[in-house]
Amino acid sequence: MLIGIPREIKDNEYRAGMVPSSVVELVHHGHQVLVESGLGLGIGVHDDEYRQAGATVLDGPEDIYAQAELLVKVKEPQAEECRMLREGQVLFTYLHLAPDRELTQGLLDSGVTAIAYETVRTPDGALPLLAPMSEVAGRLSVQAGANCLEKDNGGSGILLGGVPGVDSAHVLVIGGGIVGDNAAYIAKGMGAHVTILDNSVPRLRQLDISYGGRVNCVFSNRASIEKYALQADLVIGAVLLAGAAAPKLLTREIIAAMNPGSVVVDVAIDQGGCFETSHPTTHSDPTFIVDDVVHYCVANMPGVVPRTSSFGLNNATLPYVLRLADSGWQKALANDEGFLRGLNIHAGHICYEAVASAHQLPYTPADKFISVS
Ligand SMILES: NC(=O)c1ccc[n+]([C@@H]2O[C@H](COP(=O)([O-])OP(=O)(O)OC[C@H]3O[C@@H](n4cnc5c(N)ncnc54)[C@H](O)[C@@H]3O)[C@@H](O)[C@H]2O)c1
Repeated sequence: MLIGIPREIKDNEYRAGMVPSSVVELVHHGHQVLVESGLGLGIGVHDDEYRQAGATVLDGPEDIYAQAELLVKVKEPQAEECRMLREGQVLFTYLHLAPDRELTQGLLDSGVTAIAYETVRTPDGALPLLAPMSEVAGRLSVQAGANCLEKDNGGSGILLGGVPGVDSAHVLVIGGGIVGDNAAYIAKGMGAHVTILDNSVPRLRQLDISYGGRVNCVFSNRASIEKYALQADLVIGAVLLAGAAAPKLLTREIIAAMNPGSVVVDVAIDQGGCFETSHPTTHSDPTFIVDDVVHYCVANMPGVVPRTSSFGLNNATLPYVLRLADSGWQKALANDEGFLRGLNIHAGHICYEAVASAHQLPYTPADKFISVS
C-alpha cells in the first residue's frame, strides 16, 4: 500500500505522524512510504533519517495527498488539508469531530474514510490511542507543577523533594487513572509525599499494591478532597467521567483556603476542568493566579514535548497502521470491533453516533460498510 505522512500544519503542532522506526516496519511489510520534507524537524529527526528508513521524501504535501491510499497524521486536517482529501483514501489521525462542525462537513464533502485515534477501543473498552498522551500529560504535570512552585513563578518556593533535614512537598493527585498514576509515579520519584484520591475502590486497590504502600491511596469524597487539598503544596486534577464534562471537585472556597503560593495543575481542563477556578491556558501563557494559588491549565500539554509524544504515540498507533496497510481498512476493521469504533466518517456518511447527534446529522452504523466476522 502507498502510505503518506504529511507535515502537521496546525498552529504550534510539532509532532510527527510516523517516526523513522515505524517507516522501517511498514517498508519491511512491503509498503511504500511517502514523507513530506521537514516532517521530523520538530522532533529532531532529519529527512535523511526517513530516507535511510526507506521512505521517499517529497517537497510539498500535494503529491502525498494526491497519491497516498492511507494518510497517517497527528492532528485533525485543517481546511486546506481537507480540500486535498478524496474518496477512496483512508485518513488515520486524531479528529475530535463532535465539537467541530466545519471539519465534520469538510470530511463528509471530501468522501474520505476517516478513522479517529480517540474513538478506537480495546476489547475491555480502554482507549489505546489516547493512553500515551495521558501518560505524557501525567508525567509532565509534576514537572510543570514543580516549576510553578518556584518563587519567581508565583509559587511558595518549596522544592518537591525537600533536602535532608527539610520536609518534602505534599502532592495531591485527584483521579488515579492513567494521568494520575503517571503523575504520582513522578512525584514520588522526586521525593514528594503523595496522596491519590479516586472514587473507584478497585482502582485504589491496584494503585496501593503497585506502589507497595509508598503512596497514600484514599477514597475520594468531599471531606477527603478538602482535607488533603488544604495540606497540599501541589494539587493535580486528573479525573475523567467518560463522555461527560469533568466534575468541579476543588471548589473556590477550598482554593481560597489553600496556603498562598500553592499550585494547582488541572490536566482535566480539556474536559472543562475539575477545579472551579480553572480556565484553559496555552503553552505561551500557561498560568494565572486566583486567591494566591497558581493555576496551570494547558489544554494540550503533550504538545510541548513533541519528541517524546511522537515516539509514544507511534508505539501505540503502529500496530493499527500495519493492520490497515496489510489487510485494507475494511478487513482490518471487520476483524476487530474496537478498531471498527474508530470509523467516524466514510464516503459522505457519519458512522459514529456521538458525532452525528452532536451535529444533528444522519447516522449510519459503521458495520453497514463492512461485515463483522
Ligand atoms: N491537558 C492535557 O493535555 C491532557 C492530556 C491527556 C489527558 N487529559 C485529560 O486528563 C483526564 C484524565 O485522563 P485519564 O486518561 O487519566 O483518564 P482515566 O479514565 O484513565 O482516569 C480517570 C480517573 O478518574 C477517576 N475519577 C472519576 N471521578 C472521580 C472523582 N469524583 N474523584 C476521584 N477520582 C475520580 C476514575 O475512577 C479514574 O480512575 C481526562 O480529562 C483527559 O482528557 C488532558
